[in-house]
Amino acid sequence: MKLITVIGARPQFIKAAPFSEVFRKKHTEILVHTGQHYDSNMSDIFFNELNIPKPDYNLAVGSGRHGKQTAKMLEGIEEILLNEKPDALLVYGDTNSTLAGALAASKLHIKVYHAEAGLRSFNKLMPEEQNRILTDHISDLLFCPTETAVNHLKNEGITKGVSLTGDIMYDAVLRNIPIAQEKYKNTLTLPVSKKNYYLATVHRAENTDAPDKLKTIFQAFNELDKPVLLPLHPRTKNIIENMGLSLNNINVIDPVGYLFMLYLTANAHMVVTDSGGLQKEAYFLKTPCTTLRDQTEWVETLINDWNILTPIVCKNILQTVQRKISINTPQINAFGDGNAAAKICEAIERSLK
Ligand code: UD1
Ligand code: UDP
Repeated sequence: MKLITVIGARPQFIKAAPFSEVFRKKHTEILVHTGQHYDSNMSDIFFNELNIPKPDYNLAVGSGRHGKQTAKMLEGIEEILLNEKPDALLVYGDTNSTLAGALAASKLHIKVYHAEAGLRSFNKLMPEEQNRILTDHISDLLFCPTETAVNHLKNEGITKGVSLTGDIMYDAVLRNIPIAQEKYKNTLTLPVSKKNYYLATVHRAENTDAPDKLKTIFQAFNELDKPVLLPLHPRTKNIIENMGLSLNNINVIDPVGYLFMLYLTANAHMVVTDSGGLQKEAYFLKTPCTTLRDQTEWVETLINDWNILTPIVCKNILQTVQRKISINTPQINAFGDGNAAAKICEAIERSLK
């Protein structure tokens, strides 16, 4: 079959890598990069490290307000769909690139496949929640990473085309962690030492678009008992530049590649983040996590306190991050067996019969 896959943001490159490898053994995939992320350390680095095929198209839409950015993507993707006439279009996750791809295909009556379907935070103010609900409701095949996601879809009346495949990010972690550990062993040249730092990321709109929240997060980071290593998303970097925040205890670095990020996650005392993907990677690598949000879509990570949510209040952040941790606490296996890419391919092939 001929499939068009639309990707555009950092986590989508990581998800695309395992799928493309499996799918391309038997089928044709045309890769469309919307250009939502474009800095080399937000885009190229992932293609190089993970051997992701070079995109057949790059729409270079760049940054902008939601409406404008999504509209540019829609226009570009529609053009490609009309020229390429694929059998279906695949999107990952919940970004503006996800929604644009799904909507462009749906309007042309081209089948829509959604990987990472069924996730919900139940907070409709989040752009991600809007994108994922809309995408799920116009998808023909929905690949769910967890049982919870299947149930969310059922509750919204979506059962047709749904399959439980496991989480493709788990595939990526299992495949890449040995490579990352080998590549970076004994080379942590940062001003932090193994298991004695907090690895932090902050980029979600709910935190970055509220100056008070960002100030509180940085204040808490400064007061923590161990140094904070913060590979900083350009969105947050741009916002804090003029805020005059002090960085006494915070080592800010540029965004890093996936392999180094896995290494840093595995070797951290704890991850402190508002990222969706990083919460799970911490769980997979048995590093405790604190999530700087009121909800998470990845509720399985909360079991046995591997991950704890905290409101953005300085004393709550400090208390949660500095909690006593035990890495011997049991985990549940909710994310599949690391073969989500193959299961997604099988579900696609079954649907063609
Ligand atoms: C997007 C997704 C979010 C996801 C995140 C992954 C939407 C609505 N949000 O958020 O769900 O968690 O990607 O990282 O799709 N910028 C650069 N260089 C880049 C990319 C972005 O400087 O290569 C800066 C620009 O100032 C831009 C801002 O970051 O305005 C935000 O980028 P955008 O892609 O709109 O949203 P993200 O916050 O990255
Ligand atoms: N990541 C990375 N380098 C960084 C920060 C994050 O490779 O400097 C990876 C991280 O390991 C995870 C993915 O990016 O695989 C998560 O993306 P992000 O946090 O940007 O988006 P979200 O998952 O919240 O949508």
